[in-house]
Amino acid sequence: MRQCAARRTRCARSRSGDVSTPRIVLGRKGVLHLNHGHPWIREAHLEQVEAEDGEVVQLEAPAGSARGAAVYGARSRLPVRVISHEPGFEVAGDGWWQQRLDASVARRAAVTDEACRWVHAEADGLPGLVVDRYGPVAVIQAGCAWADRVAGAVAQRLLDRHGLSGVLARHDGAFRKPEGLEQGVSVLAGEVPETLELTLGGLRRTLDVWRGQKTGAYLDQRENHIWAARVLPAGRALDAFSHEGGFALAMAQAGSSVLALDGSAPALQRLEQNAASNGLAERIEARRANVFDELRALPAGSFDAVALDPPALAKRRADTDRATRAYRDLNLRALRLLRPGGRLVTCSCSHHISREVFRRVLGQAAASAGLDVVLLEERGGASCHPRLITFPESEYLKVVLLELRA
Ligand SMILES: C[S@@+](CC[C@H](N)C(=O)[O-])C[C@H]1O[C@@H](n2cnc3c(N)ncnc32)[C@H](O)[C@@H]1O
Repeated sequence: MRQCAARRTRCARSRSGDVSTPRIVLGRKGVLHLNHGHPWIREAHLEQVEAEDGEVVQLEAPAGSARGAAVYGARSRLPVRVISHEPGFEVAGDGWWQQRLDASVARRAAVTDEACRWVHAEADGLPGLVVDRYGPVAVIQAGCAWADRVAGAVAQRLLDRHGLSGVLARHDGAFRKPEGLEQGVSVLAGEVPETLELTLGGLRRTLDVWRGQKTGAYLDQRENHIWAARVLPAGRALDAFSHEGGFALAMAQAGSSVLALDGSAPALQRLEQNAASNGLAERIEARRANVFDELRALPAGSFDAVALDPPALAKRRADTDRATRAYRDLNLRALRLLRPGGRLVTCSCSHHISREVFRRVLGQAAASAGLDVVLLEERGGASCHPRLITFPESEYLKVVLLELRA
């Protein structure tokens, strides 16, 4: 076996006439990661690479024994993404991902909404690959070199098997940069209309999959919108960081009069359009504002219900302390807005903030505000966003229901 500390150039296999199976030899720490079931292995934990960017590879322990399979990204900080722990896993051909793609769609068969996540990357065994279904259209995000390589074939298979009219690639997100992948939005198969009209949570929604945030909607909150409307008291409600009004529309439908705040003008425009098409325009005021400032300005004790769903405040591990302070401050201010007996649905979608840390932050917020607060329920993302049990990063969305004791 060739010994080699650095990967890529020195160890990359020659492609000319070389038909050997792509392989990566892990270092001792790489094997430890594999044994713990985490699907990502860093560059520092690889001993030898004989593979090209985007290939499916066999994994080997330093002693040479087969340890499973992975996909390889030559330009990524996370070059190895494990797809199987089976020593005999067949890496050649497309059969494995086709079977997993079909199984992922079948796993969501019980979803009644017209939109949901069809493929949730590592949690569905398809590293870096996200597919969101919006009625007749699917939107793909490829977040690693392998996913980028198969995106066109995935699109064609979805089109052929599920009667879609088109498949769009939303490759305009920051998630592509650390993988060394190009940015852009393009149609991968069929045709994709400018806007789509769908029913989500029993409400008519107009969605823009070309330009909207994420792939067009926050599908991870799909079930939480409906749940929140059920558990929050009707009355005067606030949807802080409303986006296109997932929580606001559901609360208004349940009888509340809602103030929706967001910094994005297109999102608020869409919210107003959706409110009108559901006959809820009278019950929702959409206001463009910086929520951090606005929560300070609103009068204390003036809401029966608040939904607080900020963007990920800790995008990198280094942001954790600053983000923890920001979550504490936001939640303190949101709790002060509640009337006695009022309820807050509060969310964190930062995967660097664990459920335990978020709960502790909420406790600190309540204590700093001098308020008696009861935790009633904890939830995660919608059921179409499964979590890999050995991969804490896949449990990024925390949703907590709090009540201000009367
Ligand atoms: C996680 S999304 C909210 C999703 C929404 N609650 C839903 O369920 O569909 C976060 C939202 O915060 C908005 N946003 C980000 N920073 C903001 C700020 N400082 N003030 C107001 N809105 C902000 C973004 O435009 C985005 O719509």
